[in-house]
Amino acid sequence: MEKTNQHVCSHKVVHVGWQKSNLQEFKAAFISDNQAQSDWLDSKKHAELMENMDKKSAWDRFYSETSSRSHNFKNFEWFFGFDAVQDFITPFLQTASLSRRPVQVLDMGCGTSALGPSIYRDSALPVRVTCADISPVAVRLMREHVRANPVRPRNASSQIEFLELDCTQLDSHYGPSSLDLIVDKGTTDALLRSKEGAEKAASVLRQCLKVLRRSGSLLQFSDEDPDARLVWLETAAQGQGLAAADVGVQEVGVLRGVCYYCYQVTAHHYVNK
Ligand SMILES: C[S@@+](CC[C@H](N)C(=O)[O-])C[C@H]1O[C@@H](n2cnc3c(N)ncnc32)[C@H](O)[C@@H]1O
Repeated sequence: MEKTNQHVCSHKVVHVGWQKSNLQEFKAAFISDNQAQSDWLDSKKHAELMENMDKKSAWDRFYSETSSRSHNFKNFEWFFGFDAVQDFITPFLQTASLSRRPVQVLDMGCGTSALGPSIYRDSALPVRVTCADISPVAVRLMREHVRANPVRPRNASSQIEFLELDCTQLDSHYGPSSLDLIVDKGTTDALLRSKEGAEKAASVLRQCLKVLRRSGSLLQFSDEDPDARLVWLETAAQGQGLAAADVGVQEVGVLRGVCYYCYQVTAHHYVNK
């Protein structure tokens, strides 16, 4: 399949071209990585979770029930892991590091993914990674796992923390212009696809733009088609006091026949009214 699109956004023209045959085909999928969670997702509880992915109780149940089924903790990736997205993240760490202070990174809706710990481990530049999730169960599992299996960072000044945080309240935890990079792997998708989450997703996006430093970026990893997500990003980013954001997209790869993308939203400035 071959397709070339041109998306005209209000601040930037984004060219999207993809040739599915050329995209990386990911082998890793959650079925083989974490059987307990895959089994759970195959059960009828799956449908209930899908409708309520904006709710803390639904995720607490998912992480509690799946972790109780296996003796050893295993990171769970909603879709592909760090290896697949590393090349999209590293350039942003390098740009942000020019300021000569640790790069402030938030993995928003981290779940029990290894993404945040891998950024912390692999970054040659000093980073301060916060892995945040609305589910205290996921946060506890991650904290306990890292305490029991300490990760040695490539840069001795790097730091990592795990935080229970509802990202719809992001701006009550972070001041304006305090983060360099926010990574979101499947979290906005979860909000947008749940019954009552669409307005939450828009609010989270606006708050991300508020707490990002000038020229800081939000990276959303998602399987949503660019035709839909780019328009949503453009529309939802407009809000009181938000002045400008560039929106772009790159293909990440194909997993089980589904094409995944990296959406990039770069904040330019936040105007207080
Ligand atoms: C689809 S999962 C993705 C998890 C992880 N990023 C990954 O790639 O495996 C969505 C995650 O978002 C979290 N979440 C949902 N609503 C949230 C909110 N308002 N604030 C913070 N996290 C939230 C859920 O608890 C869940 O861990």
